[in-house]
Amino acid sequence: MAKFQEKKEEITEKYIINGGTHLSGKVKVSGSKNATLPIVASTVMHPARYLLRNIPEIKDVFHMLEIVVKLGGKVEQVKPNTYLIDTRKIKSYTPSKKLVRNIRASILFIGSLLARFGKANIAQPGGCFIGSRPLNTHFKALRDLGVRIINKGDYYAISVKDLTKEKSIILSEMSVTATAIILMLASLGKKIEIRLAAAEPHIEDLCKFLSKMGLKLKGCGTHNITVFGQQKLKKYIEHTIIPDQIEAGTFAIAAAVSRAEVEILDFVAAHNDILLAKFTEMGVNYEVKSKNRLLVKRSTLLKACDIRTDVYPGFPTDLQAPMAVLLTQAHGNSEIHETMFEGRLNYIKELKKMGADVIVRDPHHAIVSGPTPLFGTTITSFDLRAGATLIIAALIAEGQSIIRDIHLIDRGYEKIDEKLTKLGANIKRVEV
Ligand code: EPU
Repeated sequence: MAKFQEKKEEITEKYIINGGTHLSGKVKVSGSKNATLPIVASTVMHPARYLLRNIPEIKDVFHMLEIVVKLGGKVEQVKPNTYLIDTRKIKSYTPSKKLVRNIRASILFIGSLLARFGKANIAQPGGCFIGSRPLNTHFKALRDLGVRIINKGDYYAISVKDLTKEKSIILSEMSVTATAIILMLASLGKKIEIRLAAAEPHIEDLCKFLSKMGLKLKGCGTHNITVFGQQKLKKYIEHTIIPDQIEAGTFAIAAAVSRAEVEILDFVAAHNDILLAKFTEMGVNYEVKSKNRLLVKRSTLLKACDIRTDVYPGFPTDLQAPMAVLLTQAHGNSEIHETMFEGRLNYIKELKKMGADVIVRDPHHAIVSGPTPLFGTTITSFDLRAGATLIIAALIAEGQSIIRDIHLIDRGYEKIDEKLTKLGANIKRVEV
């Protein structure tokens, strides 16, 4: 049985972190979660064999692989982080409702199932702690392309007849998942232009993967992508997933905040321009050693700086919470403006328990005043990125911190505790 299918009893675990240890050494960034999720979904588009390298072995990816298996596909772990996916025998266009409800990214299968069968029956996807994330953008774009969506109560029956006319659609916002779904579906069309498409590195990686499958695409990595579908697609495709932009940023922030000397391998500097610009503004001492390596050195005085989240290449919402810990150690007042998710400042309650001086003005605005020493206590992780944030805070806190609900961190960070231990952190995973 493959590792991703092992049915471990759901054990509740927590982290115990003794703060104040000196971090140093090298850490390697894993493959991108948000590139892997749509790429795994897109293997269902077309019956073929796919060899995917640099797959992060995390819960969200395992969920997506399990959906492929339940649809009738085969998934084999060739070696750690390398998977062979065979989708030639898939006949079903109804992904397991239970699995779909576990993970919001399962809506990505709408694109690949429509591309393959013209139909998809998909349950309402999983809930989310970071705010309401409606499917309006996704459904409007699908309807603009002539897709029928019928709400059947506990699932959507989605179908499309033909996409042979050339079309141009405008997304109502630059949604990552909506762009990925339309990219897959557009393989059915003659020529489909997606305006206001997402331009995140993980969407660019999906485009690269689709072009390896044989699709012709223009404008990848921009907000205007054209897909020339109806190409003959290949039977065997190999692809290496790009490094994770957010994990790279998380380690860079952890190193900066703990005044460490850490080299981050597979840190793609070009994906993190805005983070490095903010580091410069704050006085973080770093050096871009090559296009894939960042050295974070010991900084002396950190200055306050304002953060406003935005779509790529703006400041990523997924790094807003980790960055707040760095701001607690900077001199002066920093303003955080979270533009996307109304639940993404929830972690501040936990940081305040640790001694952070933060005023939350409303669900989208907060002011951090610093520097303030942090103290270890018992804190709870509300979502994946909030969990990573609390780990970073615990690394510099005086005394012991206990972080509960760490299963949320396991959804998106591969072996974060092992990686930090190698850098010298005192972090233990224990059963509750
Ligand atoms: N939104 C805007 N303006 C925009 C784009 C989005 O306000 O220009 C708002 C909308 O309200 C929208 C919401 O943000 O409903 C979500 O946007 P999007 O559809 O782009 O998000 P997503 O596709 O559901 C992906 C990532 C998230 C990441 C967001 C934003 C995947 C599987 N998920 O979600 O990742 O936060 O984009 O970059 O790619 C995570 O990794 O922790 C995570 C939540």
